[in-house]
Amino acid sequence: MFNNLLYERTDEGIVTITFTREKALNALNNETVRELEQALEKVKDDNARVLVFKGSGRAFIAGADITEFKGKTASEIKLFSLVLQKVLNEIELLPIPTIAAVNGFCLGGGCELAMACDLRIASNIALFGQPEITLGIIPGAGGTQRLPRLVGKTIAKEMIFLGDSIDSKRAFKIGLVNKVVETEDLDSAVNDLAKRLATGPSFALSQAKEAIDRGTEMAWLDAIQMEANLFSLTFTHEDMEEGVSAFLEKRKAQFK
Ligand code: COA
Repeated sequence: MFNNLLYERTDEGIVTITFTREKALNALNNETVRELEQALEKVKDDNARVLVFKGSGRAFIAGADITEFKGKTASEIKLFSLVLQKVLNEIELLPIPTIAAVNGFCLGGGCELAMACDLRIASNIALFGQPEITLGIIPGAGGTQRLPRLVGKTIAKEMIFLGDSIDSKRAFKIGLVNKVVETEDLDSAVNDLAKRLATGPSFALSQAKEAIDRGTEMAWLDAIQMEANLFSLTFTHEDMEEGVSAFLEKRKAQFK
C-alpha cells in the first residue's frame, strides 16, 4: 500500500508504522511525508488504541532527505517545513499514546518525529541528534521547540549548536528517552509497553495526555483549572465505574 512505510494493526488496536526506506536510512523524502500523512488518517479511522513508530534496518530515521534540499528556494523549503510540522503536530495531538521504538540513527527530522511521540524506548546502539547545523541550517520540524521543552535549554542549545549525536545512555540521562534496552530486546520491550497501554482505560489516557500537553503550555491557573475539568470528565466514563469497582471488589479492572 505504501512505498516507504509498513502499516500494521493488531487485534488489540496497536498500530505500528515502520519506516522501510532502508537504502537511505529511512530519510524523510517528500513521498514518505505524504505517505505518513495518509497513514495517520488511517490510524484515526482504525480505532487505534496505541501507535508505535519503528525504523527498519540500521536507522529509526536519519533526518529529512538531504538530496531533496539542493536547489530549493526559501519559500519551497518553508512549505516543506510547514508540512512536516503539521504532520508531527498531528502525531502529538492524537488522543492515544504514541511510542517511538528507536533502533538506530535518530537524527534531524527523525529525532523531531520521536520527540512528537509521548514515549521513547531506545536500543543501546541508538544515536540521537539534531545535526542540521553541520549543513548550515537549523531544525525545521519542531526541533528548536520540542527539544528544549523535553531536556531544557542548556542541553538543547549544546545539541543544536554543535550538531553532535548523543548515545542512548546520555539520551536517557537527560530525559530524552524513557528506557534503554539491548537491541534484541527492543521489540519485546515496546510490545509490552504498547500492550499495557492498549488494555488501559483509553479515555483516561487521552485526558491525561491532553492535560499534560496543553497544560504545560498554559498559564498555571488556567492549566490547573483545565486539569479539574478533565479530571471531572473521567468520572462520567464507564472506565471509572469499572476501575473503582474492580479496586473495591479486589479484582483486576477490565477496561473495554
Ligand atoms: N538524506 C538522504 N540520504 C541519506 C540521509 C539523509 N538524511 N542519511 C543517510 N542517507 C543515505 C546516504 O547518502 C547513503 O546513501 P548511498 O548509499 O546512496 O550513498 C545511505 O543513506 C547510507 O548512509 P551512509 O552515510 O553511507 O551511512 P554511514 O553509516 O556512513 O553514516 C549517518 C550514517 C547517519 C551518520 C550519515 O548517513 C549521516 O550523517 N546522514 C545525514 C544525517 C543528517 O544530517 N540528518 C539531518 C538532515 S536535515
